[in-house]
Amino acid sequence: MKVLGIETSCDETAASVVDDQLHVHSSVIESSLDEHRAFGGVVPELAGRAHVMMISSVVERALVEAGLDPHNPAIDAIAVTSGPGLIGSLLVGLAAAKGYALAWGKPFVGVHHLEGHLFAPLLEMPNLPWPMLTLLVSGGHSMLVLQSGPGSHEILGETIDDAAGEAYDKVARWLGLGYPGGPEIDKLAQRGNAKTLQLPKSMTGEGYDLSFSGLKTAVVRATEKQGDLAVEDVAASFQGAVAEQLLRKVRQALEKNEVKALSLAGGVAANSALRQGISKLAEEFGIPALLPSMQMCTDNAAMIAAAGIYRFQHQGASHMNLSANPNWQLVDVS
Ligand code: KG4
Ligand code: ZN
Repeated sequence: MKVLGIETSCDETAASVVDDQLHVHSSVIESSLDEHRAFGGVVPELAGRAHVMMISSVVERALVEAGLDPHNPAIDAIAVTSGPGLIGSLLVGLAAAKGYALAWGKPFVGVHHLEGHLFAPLLEMPNLPWPMLTLLVSGGHSMLVLQSGPGSHEILGETIDDAAGEAYDKVARWLGLGYPGGPEIDKLAQRGNAKTLQLPKSMTGEGYDLSFSGLKTAVVRATEKQGDLAVEDVAASFQGAVAEQLLRKVRQALEKNEVKALSLAGGVAANSALRQGISKLAEEFGIPALLPSMQMCTDNAAMIAAAGIYRFQHQGASHMNLSANPNWQLVDVS
């Protein structure tokens, strides 16, 4: 079975062909990020317009790179992100998927964007033991997910305020760094002293929920009070505090649940402190760690095709009247 995946939930316009052995035949990603930088965040109107301009050529390239006829491809289905995300962006991908489905006479299936992120590590390391614990951290979401198998997920905890990536972006903006802030802070942090700021520990209780808003405010207060701090030291202190909280919750979850593999997903999975910490924890607990490549951490369509294959095989195709759901919750995917 071969599936064309389409992803347009935020600023990446992506298409990919993946087969049911989770082999990626092509993966094309275009981003409108450069258009958003000056605004310090993704501008929905600009993102939607960019998807409209790029979607056909991105899909065509993905089909050609997979060795398929772009006018009548030998695929079995089309998988498309139908939520959550920016409504105008989601609608472009969904309309395109429906159009291709009608034109080529193929079924299509709507996919939850975060379920896509959960499938991303499997594309690079397919035969892993289950259950698996995944720390899913992106610009829009942060959660700890226990998966008993592919497509079967229980959310142990999630952020009660900002997502980890969102906190990175806000702190970077405060420090006068560019957008997105995560990669910039990560780079600076490697040259700084993490002990410079005494930041509060968040969410010290038993549960698995996360919180980053207080940390962001603490950084703002500390730098307001002491104006001569080196940006590297502030970055290192903030990064240390974010990683401390996330890794503490992962450790708690590993201690309380029978887990055979540990994985990291979402844009913040590119973070160096988190990657090192997750590797160390996996080693300590004697289980494999899945650290996806940078291309698999950020939004891509291969992960959407992979999740789509699972959904199509287990639930069949979506109906033509499926609409985009910008607030679709992962717990509502069944
Ligand atoms: O998953 P993603 O590409 O888009 C969403 O679905 O949100 O994640 C983007 C987020 C941004 O907030 C960005 O600042 C953050 O991931 N990010 C990082 C790093 N690289 C990207 N955060 C921390 N460290 C990084 N190295
Ligand atoms: Zn994402």
